[in-house]
Amino acid sequence: MKSLEDTLRLNNGYEMPCVGFGTWQTPDDDAARAVSDAIKAGYRHIDTAACYENEVGVGSGIKQSGIEREKLFVTSKVWNTERGYKKTLAAFEKTLSDLGLDYLDLYLIHWPASSLRFENWKEINLETWRAMTELYKAGKIKAIGVSNFLPHHMEALVKTEVRPMVNQIEYHPGLMWNDTVEYCKKHDILVEAWSPLGTGRMLENEELKAIAAKYGKSAAQLCIRWCLQNGVVPLPKSVNSARIAENADVFDFEIDKEDMEKINAMPNFGGSGLHPDEVNF
Ligand code: A2P
Repeated sequence: MKSLEDTLRLNNGYEMPCVGFGTWQTPDDDAARAVSDAIKAGYRHIDTAACYENEVGVGSGIKQSGIEREKLFVTSKVWNTERGYKKTLAAFEKTLSDLGLDYLDLYLIHWPASSLRFENWKEINLETWRAMTELYKAGKIKAIGVSNFLPHHMEALVKTEVRPMVNQIEYHPGLMWNDTVEYCKKHDILVEAWSPLGTGRMLENEELKAIAAKYGKSAAQLCIRWCLQNGVVPLPKSVNSARIAENADVFDFEIDKEDMEKINAMPNFGGSGLHPDEVNF
């Protein structure tokens, strides 16, 4: 990977730019400027979700940037209250209209229906997936996938006509979900990292700062590069122009094997604490 425009190929052949611009916790009022700044800085992959309540701002930012639609990769996600066949179809139309787009590059099921909350969680996930598959086959979405799914949530989906192309999970030093990543590799499902900076919590870690300093880089740049070298697509979020540019400047160094192993072995710290089987939303 040499630039933000370099891509990874999904299991259906569609290409995804290797770093995405995250917008979780970006207020709608800031989203247009942040997204437009990101596109100017070279990002070609923008990640949002209905529940971020910033799709209108994200869509305005895309328009303001003046970039041709085909040069961008745009992701959104169906929220938990909209699970099921009919509701997912309607949620997708609202997302498209809020973004002001006529297709999405990637649409994800934001969280699995979990066994803790639903006796029929498997059926709910399959019904949501049936809607996603239909939208994909109609050409309204170029690729479909899931988010926060553990292997047992994916088991039924990988046996359907169209298997997921992506799983977006929380991923940063200390939180690597090894079993899930292995499962995704086995099924050729690309893994994306939400909160690759631990929503900023990684950046004060002395060990990460010391490793980053060796390469003349910030801890944020180290975390982003570390995702890339592990074959995971990072989605760093920022509303600050300087930090947006900083997070894109990760292609002029390589973390050596020993440091990769050190970071991979870090204990769990600073994660969100959200577990897909235990969340109550
Ligand atoms: P801000 O938006 O003010 O830049 P994550 O992507 O893991 O969710 O992390 C996002 C958090 O990290 C936000 O609070 C963001 O703040 C902060 N952040 C993003 N990039 C950097 C950076 N390069 N240096 C310091 N903080 C950063």
